[in-house]
Amino acid sequence: MDKEHYTGLIDRYRSILPLAEDSQAISLCEGNTPLVLCRNLEQVNRKGIKLYLKYEGLNPTGSFKDRGMTVAVTQAVYEGSRAILCASTGNTSASAAAYAARAGIRAFVLIPEGNIAMGKLAQAMMHGAIILQIRGNFDDGMRLVKEVAEKAPVNIVNSINPYRLQGQKTAAYEIVEALGCAPDFHCIPVGNAGNISAYWMGYSELAEDVHNQGTRAVTASGLAARPRMLGYQAAGAAPFISGKPVEKPETVATAIRIGHPQSWDLAQAAVKESSGWFNAFSDEEILATQKLLTANEGIFCEPASATSVTGALHDIEHGKISEGSTVVCTLTGHGLKDPDIAIRQSSTELINIDAELDSVKRAILENL
Ligand code: F0G
Repeated sequence: MDKEHYTGLIDRYRSILPLAEDSQAISLCEGNTPLVLCRNLEQVNRKGIKLYLKYEGLNPTGSFKDRGMTVAVTQAVYEGSRAILCASTGNTSASAAAYAARAGIRAFVLIPEGNIAMGKLAQAMMHGAIILQIRGNFDDGMRLVKEVAEKAPVNIVNSINPYRLQGQKTAAYEIVEALGCAPDFHCIPVGNAGNISAYWMGYSELAEDVHNQGTRAVTASGLAARPRMLGYQAAGAAPFISGKPVEKPETVATAIRIGHPQSWDLAQAAVKESSGWFNAFSDEEILATQKLLTANEGIFCEPASATSVTGALHDIEHGKISEGSTVVCTLTGHGLKDPDIAIRQSSTELINIDAELDSVKRAILENL
């Protein structure tokens, strides 16, 4: 096989991952996702800002979770585990189910009844996970998973599993490799708060590394530059804005419908150390951004993912993100994950015509 053939992020980044040398990677060739420069957003171009989208929806199961799952499942199998367990708003369950299938082990997933996007449910079902639909929300599921794992011989693969964050930090490495340096700002949706913590870990390791090697510009603090981390939430599920857990989180962005984030301290530290901030946006704003990206840039992400760009555009407009900056927004999941929301909010009409040439011609001419 071609030596350059990409075989997944463990092969690519094993030296910075805490895995035993003889552990067999359980991989679906995740990672190595595109960093797409926005071209058509006038409100960004006008300010001389370069806005990049880290399109994590192009991972094998359609979300960034695969980065963490390949490492967590590799480690679980190495330890001899026969089963993995998670609570999920959907994407973690899809990813856990796929990697468990790949590894030949069992996945148990707890999902909130009625609040999981259809694409994600289809994935968990097709990959053969044992699906426990709970009459409760993600936070209830998380509490139960932690209680069960104390007594049952299963590995939790939620982001409280440190191997998950280790895998997810590789996205920061890819961005720095692609840009040649860290961006000025990194915008990211925040739910359970694992991903913002993982990116910060990645950027921080790189900054240390550069410092140690003395190869790049070093800031006054003695570290190479790291981005300011901007964590964005849905207004109905925004514990980092209220400063305390939210008991009944509600948002159309079901992926981040979370009131008790598990990585609270790590996320707070990431934002504080980077001189970043949190902000929150309404469902209407989030859906409008999802549509904006789809119609203007050709990029389809799920609602939760659009939260990062909603925040970036807002903070650019209000001058909080300075002119001429380089900004990266993580698009955490693919738009096809949640077709129901997409179709419900799209104003595109289906034009019904007869199956004949004249009708097609007329329809084209009328809509040119
Ligand atoms: N975006 C998407 C598409 C997600 O699925 C999630 C989390 C997030 C953002 C937030 O990331 O939790 O690290 O702050 N989804 C989890 C799940 C909770 O179960 O799939 P976070």
